[in-house]
Parts: sequence; C-alpha cells; structure tokens
Amino acid sequence: MTLHNSTSSDAQVTPKKTALDQLSSNAVDVPPSITRVLANKAMGIEGLIPLWFGEPNQPTPKFICDEAARAMQNGETFYAEGLGRPFLRQAIADYSSRIYNTEIPSERIAVTVSGGNAINLAFQALLKPGDKVATITPAFPNLLRIPQLQSAELICHALDIVEGKWSLDIDAFIESAAEAKAVLINSPSNPTGWTMTSEQQRYLLDELRSRNIWLIADEVYSRTTFDNSVAPSFLEVSQPEDKLIVVNSFSKSWAMTGWRLGWLTLPPSLVPTIEKIMEFSVACAPPFVQRAAVVAIEQGEAFIQQSSENYHLAKEKVSQTLARYSAVECPEIEATFYAFFRIPAIKDSIAFSQLLIDEAKVGLAPGEAFGAPSNGWFRLCFAQTPEVLDQALARLDHYLKDPARFNL
Ligand SMILES: Cc1ncc(COP(=O)(O)O)c(C=O)c1O
Repeated sequence: MTLHNSTSSDAQVTPKKTALDQLSSNAVDVPPSITRVLANKAMGIEGLIPLWFGEPNQPTPKFICDEAARAMQNGETFYAEGLGRPFLRQAIADYSSRIYNTEIPSERIAVTVSGGNAINLAFQALLKPGDKVATITPAFPNLLRIPQLQSAELICHALDIVEGKWSLDIDAFIESAAEAKAVLINSPSNPTGWTMTSEQQRYLLDELRSRNIWLIADEVYSRTTFDNSVAPSFLEVSQPEDKLIVVNSFSKSWAMTGWRLGWLTLPPSLVPTIEKIMEFSVACAPPFVQRAAVVAIEQGEAFIQQSSENYHLAKEKVSQTLARYSAVECPEIEATFYAFFRIPAIKDSIAFSQLLIDEAKVGLAPGEAFGAPSNGWFRLCFAQTPEVLDQALARLDHYLKDPARFNL
C-alpha cells in the first residue's frame, strides 16, 4: 500500500498546467510524512488511541506555564536577540556544564525555535548542494528529509540486531561515511532507543576529526532514560573547536512539544553564521517562551525524574506484553519512549497500520517512515497512562496473535 493524498483529478489523462510546473524546489520531490498522511486520514475517528506521534502525555508543568504567562503580562512579547536571551543562553550553558561535568560557555549556545529548527540551521550552515550526509537507520523521518531538502545526498547505514539489541558496526559506518561532508547521529535514537556509549562517541569523533568530517549530534532524548540518568553526550568527549554541532530541545524532557524551543551547542567560530541564518529566517525565538524555558531548566529536575519513572513502567508493560506473542519481535528498548517492533509475517506495514486504525482503533507509525531495515516494523509511543496503554494493548491482542491470517 502506498500513501498519497489522492483526489478525483488523479484520474485525468491530460496533464493540467499547475502552479508547480516550473518549480525546482526540493520540497516538491521529497515524499510527505507517511505517519502524518495516515494520521490525517484518521482524524475524527471516535475513540482512536493515537500512539503514532512522539510526545509526552503529561501536560507542561504548571510552574513553566505560569512563568510564560507572567512574561507575556510583563510585556515580553517583542523581538529579542537572534541567538537567544542572554539569561537563557547562560541557563542552558550552566545546565550543560552541570549534567556533563564540563565547561560550556554561554557564547557557544544558540537558542532555536525547536529541535527541528536547530537541525535545519545546522544543515543550512554546513551544506552545499550535492554534499553527502551519512546517517544511521532506522531514523526519525525528519532527519532523513531535512538534508534532502537542502539538496544533500543521503548515505544510510542500518543498525544491526545482535542478541536482541540494536547494535552499530561502527567501523563499517565510518567507512560508509568516507565521502560525507557531515555525519548525523541521533542518540538515544528515535525510533529504536539505541544509545551510543561514551567509548563509541570518543572513537567516532576521533575518526571524523582525522577525516575532517562534521558531526551533527541530535541529543533531544538525552534525558528520556529509564533510570533518570543522562545519556552519554558528544559534549563530554569533545573540544570546543571540534567540527561538532549538538542539537537539543525543550520538547521531550520538559513536555513542551508545542512551545517550539530548542538549542544548539556550537564551535565558537560557527556562531556568527548561525546568527545570520536565524536573523534571515525566524529572527528569534519568542521571548516569553524563553523566559519559561529558564525555569524549566532550573527547576525541572523533579519533573524529569517523575517522567523517567513513568516511562520505565510503561516500557516494561509494553515490552513484556509484546514478548508474549511469538509473531512479534521487539529488540531491547534502551531509552526514549518508543517500542520499535517487528511482525515478520506482515509485508505491508502501511496496510496493517491502516487495518489497526480501522478495526482496532489504535494508531501506530509504520516502519517505512523510519527507513526500517526490512518489512513489518511498527513504532508505538508508550508515553501514555497505564490505563490507556492497557486498553491499546488489549485492542491489539487479536491482531498480534496470528497476524499472518490478515495476508498483508
Ligand atoms: C530524534 C528527534 N530529533 C528532533 C526532534 C524534533 O523535536 P522538536 O522539533 O519538537 O524540538 C524529534 C521530535 O520528535 C526527534 O524525535
């Protein structure tokens, strides 16, 4: 099953001249988000349990909302500095220095309008058309599409599964990246939860240094761990002028997906370039959101700890339930709030996802969206209450018992 937003005009034989006929934008050719197309079609289905998108189920903590409201009422509703309010850059620098036990000065921080915006800025700064970007799959779809939007060529290296765990053949990956201008690593990874060790990070960075290749590290799940630990960061094993750009976001750790705020940690020499791109694109992040972000980062540890405990329980529930089905394979989930599992009997995961929407009323993201290594993969976001998860898993039971009979 392929997905597109079809209309009756698809059937017309004579090509119609449209507004697009002279467009050369890469966006025309980049495929739409598979999950988004499925979800849009399912909008309004009563009682559907949506486990396809990746966001915390908790509301943003009240103390963060209150601070934003206060800032708005105090008139913090105008343009601000392109690289971010100085007090937020300082708070992020202090936070990074604290959790990574290293010295990160505020001059290396650029506040961005989300993690997604941060990744776009990083690639805009680095890439020329035709440059190659090497990355690891399965991957968050945006990480594959953002470089393509900038006319880059992707080199994808698939993770292996070794003894039920996601595993990277790091030398093979480095070899595949020989021609790349930049390497993009997302750890902990959406959708697999695979997390790079500190030793692997040190080794990779050393190798890339000697080959003069940039590294973009997407660390937006750095606090989405199951034991309230901080995932290893490239910031712990690098020098300020390494060709390293680290992406982070307020979305996941502080349950602020709708606030659209993130940050970059940059080599000092790249900061003026990023500042220019910010200026000529979004100008700045909203100042009242930045004010709220300061309290999030300074007073949010208890919330992160509580979330970590909740995700741990949810992960146990989902992985133990999936393990009961002989038709389902779910590699160990090291971090994040996703189960990425396979039903080998299913060849068309988009069609099976559609069946689950229509009949079970559960929304899963099909593995195709993430460049899954083979057929029959699905991502389930378990950032949900135990009650909702129980209900969703009960609805899936009928479909996981003997999936081959659906002939999909
Ligand atoms: C791996 C990864 N990077 C970046 C983002 C972007 O996060 P945001 O733009 O909400 O900060 C996401 C969101 O799902 C993600 O999963």
